[in-house]
Amino acid sequence: MMYELVFSATGRTAKIADILGGGFEGEKHRLDLSDPRMAAQAFEAEDFCILTVSVYEGRVPKPAAENLKKLTGNGAKVLLAAVFGNRAVDDCLLEMQEIMVQQGFVPVAAIEAVAQHSILTQVEPFRPDHADRTELQTFTAQVAALLEENRTDYSLDLPGKMPYVEMGGIPLQPKGNRKCIGCGLCAQKCPMQAIPSDAPAQTDKTRCITCMRCVELCPVHARDFHPLLQKAAYLMMRSKMQGRKPNKLYLPK
Ligand SMILES: Cc1cc2nc3c(=O)[nH]c(=O)nc-3n(C[C@H](O)[C@H](O)[C@H](O)COP(=O)(O)O)c2cc1C
Ligand code: SF4
Ligand code: SF4
Repeated sequence: MMYELVFSATGRTAKIADILGGGFEGEKHRLDLSDPRMAAQAFEAEDFCILTVSVYEGRVPKPAAENLKKLTGNGAKVLLAAVFGNRAVDDCLLEMQEIMVQQGFVPVAAIEAVAQHSILTQVEPFRPDHADRTELQTFTAQVAALLEENRTDYSLDLPGKMPYVEMGGIPLQPKGNRKCIGCGLCAQKCPMQAIPSDAPAQTDKTRCITCMRCVELCPVHARDFHPLLQKAAYLMMRSKMQGRKPNKLYLPK
């Protein structure tokens, strides 16, 4: 059986997950790693999983890490894919590898792929584009060929180092404004349960991870932070996000 394990708060990472999944034949089952109610699941050695998560502050997003710890691999193979907003992946792939090995999976290859930045939306607004799609399809063909080899050793040399970069949190938490019609969608879909369902214009700042989902899904655009704060954050980070960063494939030796 083939599984897609996906953490995508705003759908940008899901675009990459769709491209990667399309590179493998057969029926796929998708698990939503952003759902705090995700059920525990056990896999079999014959299963193949594609784990695709967004990079948050160079790491695996907290809700994704928590949900991955509910899985039991039993030797299932997994392709690791970290999707980043044109700054860097930092320690994310290494952390994904560590978590998956701990859970009993066998990481066989890894991919870094670029998508539009979900907070600093000025960065690479059109990625993944046609060139990315073509390149990622080449990568999945290489991984499919690797799986045919039925190796016993899949040692991977991934970027990153321990101790992992600290996640300090991003000091921008969206809140609701007077346009809110109280539909409750944001409270229902927040991966951190940071929005009270009886007061959906508010945000529990101690829980919010600035994933931007509530901003994207609000039907009346009633959740945001001040555009000047977004602009200031962009100007501060801009130099680290210049140029077209490449997608990368890591294969075992
Ligand atoms: C809280 C947060 C932290 C982020 N940290 C990084 C980062 O360290 N490096 C990077 O290149 N992109 C970073 N990004 C950009 C996302 O990795 C990228 O836009 C991703 O495609 C988001 O997909 P999603 O919204 O579908 O989950 C960050 C985005 C958020 C929301
Ligand atoms: S999704 Fe928008 S309109 Fe609906 S409760 Fe949340 S802030 Fe209000
Ligand atoms: S409140 Fe924070 S964590 Fe929840 S959906 Fe909005 S940005 Fe994401």
